[in-house]
Amino acid sequence: MPADNNVMEKLVSLAKRRGFVFQSSEIYGGLGSVWDYGPLGVELKKNLKERWWRSMVHEREDIEGLDAAILMHPKVWEASGHIAGFTDPLVDCKHCKNRFRADDPRIKGTPGQPDAQCPVCGSRGTLTAPRLFNLMFKTFMGPVEEQAAVVYLRPETAQGIYVNYLNVLQASRQKIPFGIAQVGKAFRNEITPGNFTFRTREFEQMEMQFFVKPGTDGEWFEFWKAQRMEWHYGLGIRREKLRFHQHTKEELAHYAKDAYDLEYEFPFGWHEFEGVHNRSDFDLSRHQQFSGKKLEYLDPATKERFIPYVVETSVGADRTALVVMCDAYREETVEGETRVVMGFNPAIAPLKAAVFPLVNKDGMPELARRIFDDLRRHFNVFYDDSGSIGRRYRRQDEAGTPYGITVDGQSVGDGTVTVRDRDTLRQERVAGDRLVSHLGDKLKM
Ligand code: GAP
Repeated sequence: MPADNNVMEKLVSLAKRRGFVFQSSEIYGGLGSVWDYGPLGVELKKNLKERWWRSMVHEREDIEGLDAAILMHPKVWEASGHIAGFTDPLVDCKHCKNRFRADDPRIKGTPGQPDAQCPVCGSRGTLTAPRLFNLMFKTFMGPVEEQAAVVYLRPETAQGIYVNYLNVLQASRQKIPFGIAQVGKAFRNEITPGNFTFRTREFEQMEMQFFVKPGTDGEWFEFWKAQRMEWHYGLGIRREKLRFHQHTKEELAHYAKDAYDLEYEFPFGWHEFEGVHNRSDFDLSRHQQFSGKKLEYLDPATKERFIPYVVETSVGADRTALVVMCDAYREETVEGETRVVMGFNPAIAPLKAAVFPLVNKDGMPELARRIFDDLRRHFNVFYDDSGSIGRRYRRQDEAGTPYGITVDGQSVGDGTVTVRDRDTLRQERVAGDRLVSHLGDKLKM
């Protein structure tokens, strides 16, 4: 699949220009693969997180929410296998000092051998043999660095759920099968980051761990696979751009018995943005062993004791935002002009509507302001009175705002306004005092 760099370049540039995503610490030259979300980006990501939370926690009786801390007892990462196994094989160039993943497709020859060629400086025989490099960020806890305990920034949110599984079970009085959902930051010292926000060193995950009776895990695994694909369809992502990929034995993570990636066809090829994993009883058994605390479940009906199996759904909030942005981006010609549109599903669009007085006189700005003040109590809306109406529409097309509300001469007389649909460009007249319910109906998706 040839990389469509052109689309990515345009998207990165639009993201900066319109305030979706900025490079971290840009005035200092940026920080590698760390990004900040601007006014539109933060709304988009928040809408995705809220939608996920609603579908997982509020709409289901059998899933509870949790917000565990990023810092955890260091033993957690021994038990989870991350200290031993969360590694990438890396090679160094002794000449230019650059570092690569051993499977970097740009490397020619065999690292460690005289034929290997550095993809950056082109030197031959300067690449070291692969060495394992742990992806977890370390920091120190306590006032004196030398004596302080090493703690890690979590590389996945899942472990916060496992160590709280008994607390949540007891506090919520749930019975197995039940799940725990969490949205939070995770950190990985990625070595080949890149492709904009696709692979970053700090990112947010939306993870749900579903605890089931051993033997029923296969069924629940299929259930959650189907549910998650449906959720992405519901975001309005083009179906032909979504597919599953089952992990081969070599691809399976150290904890997984079976795993499927949900992949999207990005401009740079098909890549994972969600994983559905059958983690068996790996994590809970290991935590039981390392903590010495019983993590068994007592089935109240059968009096059986067992360590539950876990089916995990794990999706990146940032990566989903990137999927949504890639999928929404389009260029088209309308009325003889080219326009760029972010065709977001209105339910997740950062701004729901923009209000425009046609001209800045004859009572139009006053009425437009009143309508804007009324709407902003219900939706995230924008007011714009500068430039021609055509230019104002184009600006909102780029922001992905689904509805443009124009207050014109007739509005001042009869209180009606025009509502322009971003995609069909059709305009309808709606009574100004009915706008809240009119938009509310359209945004229910
Ligand atoms: N708890 C399981 C787990 O963390 P993963 O496949 O390593 O599984 C799950 O990560 C999801 O987290 C990925 O599908 C992706 O959306 C997101 N993710 C992982 N690493 C990332 C990174 N470096 N940058 C952005 N998102 C990342």
